[in-house]
Amino acid sequence: MIQPAANPFDKISPTALMVAHARQFTDIPYTQALATLVDARSAFDQLLSQSSALPLDMAVMIEGRYKAINQAMAEFAPTQILELASGLLPRGMVMTQDPNLIFVESDLPIMLSRKQKLVQQLVGDRPNLHFAVIDVTAQPSQFPIDAYWQPDQPIAILCEGLLMYLDQTEKQRVFANVRELLQIYGGVWITSDLVDLESLHRRREISPALRQVGAMIARISDRSKTECYFDTFEQVQQFAHQQGFQIQHQSMLNIMPQLTCLQPLGINPKIAEALLADSFVFTLRLR
Ligand SMILES: C[S@@+](CC[C@H](N)C(=O)[O-])C[C@H]1O[C@@H](n2cnc3c(N)ncnc32)[C@H](O)[C@@H]1O
Repeated sequence: MIQPAANPFDKISPTALMVAHARQFTDIPYTQALATLVDARSAFDQLLSQSSALPLDMAVMIEGRYKAINQAMAEFAPTQILELASGLLPRGMVMTQDPNLIFVESDLPIMLSRKQKLVQQLVGDRPNLHFAVIDVTAQPSQFPIDAYWQPDQPIAILCEGLLMYLDQTEKQRVFANVRELLQIYGGVWITSDLVDLESLHRRREISPALRQVGAMIARISDRSKTECYFDTFEQVQQFAHQQGFQIQHQSMLNIMPQLTCLQPLGINPKIAEALLADSFVFTLRLR
């Protein structure tokens, strides 16, 4: 059998299993089924080895960003959505229950093919749910242009849990690819991934568990923190402007009443509140 060519970004893919493990302690649909089907618990234990007894504070960030992105997206009521680096996110299955919505999930080939099989197992075929292999950094762009989309309707592009693994040059390529698609269709890009080192350090002060998880993720993904994060929040805004976008941000604190992972994981609400207060979802439009 011909194996798909190895991609240097494949080292990032196992982190999708960790995230899937954390997400099952929430009320987000399909997350328990997905975590069970991929045995996310074993993957999580293996990756974290002796640290697996740590409280899963990361679930706050994972549930927070999923719901904050949904909230930001609701303002636009999009009819077509491109999700980048979908991993084991259930959003495509959840949203395409609305037959009028077009949803395209994307990821690297190995992860996407695994996801497509899982979706088939859980919900079968959905005519409005599509799967596209996209390396977000590829140039020329692999973002679908003519396939899937209605030409007269804007697109919402979503991305959670990827850009913080990419260095500045790789990020620039993603911004260029998003820009190209939005220039054709119009729309917005909503992401939680523009993280700066100052807020990252503050969050890791609040939760030592996050510090350990962060160190482990950096080790397995082989990505350097200093190359992949912005130094300051101002740099995030400056970068987005330079790449041709207007950028707005919203704190995730308003997601606090919707958090469901606290009780099952025994997380202190004060810690959750402090983590969310220093985490943001960004909405970008072309300038
Ligand atoms: C931390 S996981 C996040 C997955 C998912 N967004 C979530 O929140 O659960 C990172 C994801 O990025 C994908 N990925 C890594 N490099 C990529 C690239 N260059 N282009 C597209 N996807 C990539 C991985 O395969 C993996 O699914």
